[in-house]
Amino acid sequence: MGKNYEVDFDTYLKEYPDKKGYFGKYGGAFLPPELVPAFKEITEAYQTICHSAQFISELRRIRKEYQGRPTPIYHCERLSRLLGPSQIYLKREDLNHTGAHKLNHCMGEGLLAKFMGKKKIIAETGAGQHGVALATAAAYFGLECDIYMGEVDIAKQAPNVARMKILGAKVVPATHGLKTLKEAVDAAFEAYMKEYENSIYCIGSVVGPHPFPMMVRDFQMVVGVEAREQFLGMTGILPDAVVACVGGGSNALGLFPAFLKDPVELYGVEPMGRGPKMGDHAASLTYGEEGILHGFNSIMLKDNKGGPAPVYSIASGLDYPSTGPEHAFLKEIGRANYVSATDEEAVEAFFKLSRYEGIIPALESSHALAAAMRMAREGKHRAILVNLSGRGDKDMDYVIEHYGFGENYISFG
Ligand SMILES: Cc1ncc(COP(=O)(O)O)c(C=O)c1O
Repeated sequence: MGKNYEVDFDTYLKEYPDKKGYFGKYGGAFLPPELVPAFKEITEAYQTICHSAQFISELRRIRKEYQGRPTPIYHCERLSRLLGPSQIYLKREDLNHTGAHKLNHCMGEGLLAKFMGKKKIIAETGAGQHGVALATAAAYFGLECDIYMGEVDIAKQAPNVARMKILGAKVVPATHGLKTLKEAVDAAFEAYMKEYENSIYCIGSVVGPHPFPMMVRDFQMVVGVEAREQFLGMTGILPDAVVACVGGGSNALGLFPAFLKDPVELYGVEPMGRGPKMGDHAASLTYGEEGILHGFNSIMLKDNKGGPAPVYSIASGLDYPSTGPEHAFLKEIGRANYVSATDEEAVEAFFKLSRYEGIIPALESSHALAAAMRMAREGKHRAILVNLSGRGDKDMDYVIEHYGFGENYISFG
């Protein structure tokens, strides 16, 4: 059981993180000495602009006119009928410009880079969605953009690699280790250390050293604020449960905060990949322990020597051996639940949503949907709201090659 007696959800967002970037014992900024001034500069610049009426109104204008916000809420009537009495609703972040929630924080980070007078933005990407979103922000603001991506993910997410290049970004392969997301973060950090004076590292999730977990959450919170109001308007009630997949955890922390004070269950869904053996999944909160990676303290999957464990998921945006420190905290205090979905369950959800609703989801988002479908079959919830964090065009080639057109997944309900 959690320790939620200590936490006042009326003041939660003001108190967490604290000034040093801690959510309880998780978070912080574990940096090489040469980067301390650079992160101090970013923190101070963010504190300035987030209170500036001009910045807030510019971000609002961009969200409306450029991103196409608010994204709608959609009731999955056919899918819900198939599964049981619970009703499934989607927050359609797949309809956000560039096809995922990632642009919500990238436009904020781009505005920050401009304010700070930086010439270049640097980042890592797993599925390529953060890379595409950041390349888009770079084009919009007239900035250079270097995106680091594991070689394995470059092969798996070819359409997004092409999009980044068309948008003018340089895609730099990360060639060490497992050549996936963790290695991309390693490579991006290394590059940033060499040119932090002219550039800013725009981390792709609620991870990394302070202030990124806070800043990315703040930029993403628009998702939950919109969703709560839209859901009430559409149904007259609040959902019993809200569900989001968790890689680093940004789309989940976009949705959760708006419901923290409500009697609404929060579910983060981690990737269980091929099963619970080390190296076959990336379920950090389920199997991990406290540890520092990429400059922040959280719950991470460790190998026998205490280093980051090898991880795997069918969804390139979820295979990270740690998770945002705020998720570790929400789990510890018992306010959010963390469950998992396997590759198989995610692929079933991918095909079910495509065939029953005409929406092809990203494999990352399919994990959230898979957990919601399981909950709907159990029938304990009236209404379940899922963050459909992205669209699945980027995954189609991979899915067709390995699973065909879904013949084996549509027959069972
Ligand atoms: C569509 C989509 N959803 C979810 C994620 C996972 O990231 P996060 O946990 O930060 O939301 C990614 C990452 O690339 C993604 O592309």
